[in-house]
Amino acid sequence: MKATALAHPNIALVKYWGKRDDALILPHQSSLSLTLSPLSVTTTVEFGVGNDAVELNGHTARGSERERVLRLLESVRASAKKELGPAKVVSRGDFPMAAGLASSAAGFAALAVAGRAAAGLLADPRAASILSRLGSGSACRSVQGGFCEWQRGERADGEDSFAVQRFDAAHWPDVRMVVAILDRGEKEVKSRDGMKHTVDTSPYYPAWVQDAEKEIPHAREHISRRDLQALGELCERNAWRMHATSMAANPPLCYLSSGTLALIQHLREQRKKGMPVWFTLDAGPNPVLLTDAAHEVAAEALARACGALDVVRCVPGGDAELKAEHLF
Ligand code: PMV
Repeated sequence: MKATALAHPNIALVKYWGKRDDALILPHQSSLSLTLSPLSVTTTVEFGVGNDAVELNGHTARGSERERVLRLLESVRASAKKELGPAKVVSRGDFPMAAGLASSAAGFAALAVAGRAAAGLLADPRAASILSRLGSGSACRSVQGGFCEWQRGERADGEDSFAVQRFDAAHWPDVRMVVAILDRGEKEVKSRDGMKHTVDTSPYYPAWVQDAEKEIPHAREHISRRDLQALGELCERNAWRMHATSMAANPPLCYLSSGTLALIQHLREQRKKGMPVWFTLDAGPNPVLLTDAAHEVAAEALARACGALDVVRCVPGGDAELKAEHLF
């Protein structure tokens, strides 16, 4: 009744931006990401002890954070079809900074894998992906390593909305993602609220959905050929389009800071000089640079020259996995 799992975060190359079902976290479009090592979150779940208790990074979780964890475990209980009792959850990330890079994807993926194992359910990436999606959408892409595609699905119950691994981490060992932390502050508008506002008020939203879905097979093709330039160009235009859609919301939503734009400008200049580097940008000001092993040090230098407070160099990460050692 006790299990521990480790999972890595992921960064989308084709972003997920907008839900068609807020409760089940079903997206309007498919998305595609790369799972990143060495960053990870480890989570231990034990059923049948005391009262429900959730500790995240040394703090007792409260409010919506706690509810999201307990809701996911409620779904584990329903799948287990047996009395499991209260759950104790302890989760710890090894992320070097608090708000720079979202740890929620890795956290919910680790929780889903550990929760299912603690309940005695068999390892099943599809079921774990569906389960982790209930915590945070992007988490469904962190159950497996390498390049994962979250297929939007069609069903109203969400049973066909999960991530599948397209290429494992060994497919492209040379690819790198370099996270540039320009700002450690909490973002003003959480992804969850920002995407809802965009769906509800941006006249560009339908075009975003159509375009993002169309890019998925192209992204897959570029990854299969390990074509960094084609993938870089695709991932930049997809990030711009997500942000353009948000900027067109009413009132407008802008996650970019002046520092973000300065870095992008500098990156373009370096690219003109022959450096293979592209960027993507989640719902915040911190760009993630896409490059190869030969240029990761130069990409870090580029980020630092543009005022990055911290830089994390990442390689393709593996599947979420069970660990023999527990956190309590
Ligand atoms: O899964 P959430 O609710 O953290 O939303 C993630 C949204 C983006 O990071 C902006 C895009 C993505 O696909 O990860």
